[in-house]
Amino acid sequence: MTSDYTEVFQDAEAVEKYETVTYAPDSYASRINDRQRDYLRRLVRDEFEGQHPPVQHDFACGTGRAIRTLHGLVREAHGYDTSAEMMAKAAEVGSRAYWHQVPMDGPVPTPVAAGFPALVTIFRLLLNVPDPIRDRAIAFAAKALPHRGSGLLVVENHGNAGSLRHLRAKRHQNERWFSELSHEQVEALLDRHGFEVVERQGFSMLTPSLHGHKVARWADSAARRVPGFDGYAVNVLYTARRVHA
Ligand SMILES: C[S@@+](CC[C@H](N)C(=O)[O-])C[C@H]1O[C@@H](n2cnc3c(N)ncnc32)[C@H](O)[C@@H]1O
Repeated sequence: MTSDYTEVFQDAEAVEKYETVTYAPDSYASRINDRQRDYLRRLVRDEFEGQHPPVQHDFACGTGRAIRTLHGLVREAHGYDTSAEMMAKAAEVGSRAYWHQVPMDGPVPTPVAAGFPALVTIFRLLLNVPDPIRDRAIAFAAKALPHRGSGLLVVENHGNAGSLRHLRAKRHQNERWFSELSHEQVEALLDRHGFEVVERQGFSMLTPSLHGHKVARWADSAARRVPGFDGYAVNVLYTARRVHA
């Protein structure tokens, strides 16, 4: 699955589709992206207030979605990805960063030494890759954030196993790309690399197929205001810090 998933994003058609279909204006993913953007910009402003703006290291940066989200709030941004095609698209769609192609496996890539504080973002990678690739991504974050005061890690889980999406799991169990990750799995993964989750935020309880239903969208918008929503949201961001000083 590793190489399959990695290779998917080296195909020009898949790259184009990611940008123009998955993230088409008003799509399911775009709506979530807009909410994440507001949340992340607020998080970065609050967390790094009174400090130098952070350096962003975006692992599995793809077309630079997380980099564009934080334009203007970071000192500089570095995008790391296995796919030169995705990073070429990133530059084409206006993501501003230094781009670094990394191998799909092997030793943990080394983040560029660009100083602190740092902010590591890992979006839409963990769900669909096997454990060694998940561990490698978080090990990369641990290198970029050697101790508690170094900054923050934000990771996305776009298939929370505790959400409504789980109802589809049985039907899709033989499909290559249907994966799930529970909060406990994400927390255990982070813990293995010395991170503790300091905040968890949910962005939608809907699956893409419910995105077109007005009533479902209304219910989702009401649910997002309820405390504890992140527990059953499909799409979740986890903010973490290294435990040790
Ligand atoms: C679904 S895209 C997500 C892109 C971006 N982070 C976002 O949220 O829009 C997954 C990205 O992971 C990259 N990728 C796949 N396997 C990888 C690996 N082993 N190491 C680093 N990046 C990888 C792909 O090339 C692709 O750009």
